[in-house]
Amino acid sequence: MTGKVCIITGSTSGVGLEATRRLASGGARVVMVCRDRAKAEHICDELGAAGLIIPDIVLADFSDLAQVREAAAEILKRYQRIDVLINSAGLHSTTRRLTPAGFELVFCVNHLASFLFTSLLVDRLRENSTARIIQVNSEGHRFGGLDLDDLDWSRRRYTGLKGYGASKTAQLLTVWEFADQLKGSGVTINAMHPGDVRTGIGRNNGLLYRIFLHTLVWPFLKDPAISGHALYWLAASKEMEGVSGRFFHLTIDEKPAAHALDRQMGKKVWDASRRLVGLE
Ligand SMILES: NC(=O)c1ccc[n+]([C@@H]2O[C@H](COP(=O)([O-])OP(=O)(O)OC[C@H]3O[C@@H](n4cnc5c(N)ncnc54)[C@H](OP(=O)(O)O)[C@@H]3O)[C@@H](O)[C@H]2O)c1
Repeated sequence: MTGKVCIITGSTSGVGLEATRRLASGGARVVMVCRDRAKAEHICDELGAAGLIIPDIVLADFSDLAQVREAAAEILKRYQRIDVLINSAGLHSTTRRLTPAGFELVFCVNHLASFLFTSLLVDRLRENSTARIIQVNSEGHRFGGLDLDDLDWSRRRYTGLKGYGASKTAQLLTVWEFADQLKGSGVTINAMHPGDVRTGIGRNNGLLYRIFLHTLVWPFLKDPAISGHALYWLAASKEMEGVSGRFFHLTIDEKPAAHALDRQMGKKVWDASRRLVGLE
């Protein structure tokens, strides 16, 4: 991956951080897209001390689509070529929270922001016929919960699992649409579940949930380094050349839930997403 420009969102923690470490150690020029400069600089220091290429930093809070647009514009200005885009920024929330623009927070960060970011960068990716896009998705898409008539959960009781499932289902459905549109360009797009790994996910929730997470869930989770290795393989391996529109559990090609394969629904989600992020 020497010299390859790899844009990674959510690069300050967990899965995205492991991908950053792994790609940097493979010689890539990583661009960390994140909301916390101090955290990113600390990681840059760590990589620099290990003798690796120090990543660039682009700031954006993905709960604010205006910031997603600004970050994409900055990237388009700074990088004439993009080799890899990994969208890993994401969260799980046990309660329904709205962004200032009125989107349900998890749906906005996990789906709308990554959808908008990818859409804004896709032409630059197309200029490079070997570029790869990887959406860090989740087996959690299997929880379902996507209702196009109630994306902000104002009519249903919100649960963390369903809210998370809705966001990941929407993202998966748009991966198939992106893959169709990219056919023939050489650019590939795939989704992946990064393993069940010990990261910061869930830390934004209340004390009881965090105690539950640390005592009952964490002991069964794996080292997130495996997610970094899997993402490296998906981004760099020869085996993945030309492979597009698939869902991987780490590096294993897997069949998603039936509701995430409904292409008619996918087209509706695509149109709704474009409208909501202001691309129409
Ligand atoms: N951990 C697992 O077992 C697991 C399983 C399936 C799927 N996933 C998926 O993996 C991805 C990464 O999660 P993780 O487990 O690595 O969790 P994590 O350690 O909490 O990392 C999440 C990353 O997303 C960033 N982020 C969250 N909200 C953001 C916002 N509003 N704007 C910009 N960045 C934001 C965080 O930034 P800060 O550092 O500033 O908070 C952090 O860098 C998510 O999409 C998640 O759904 C994880």
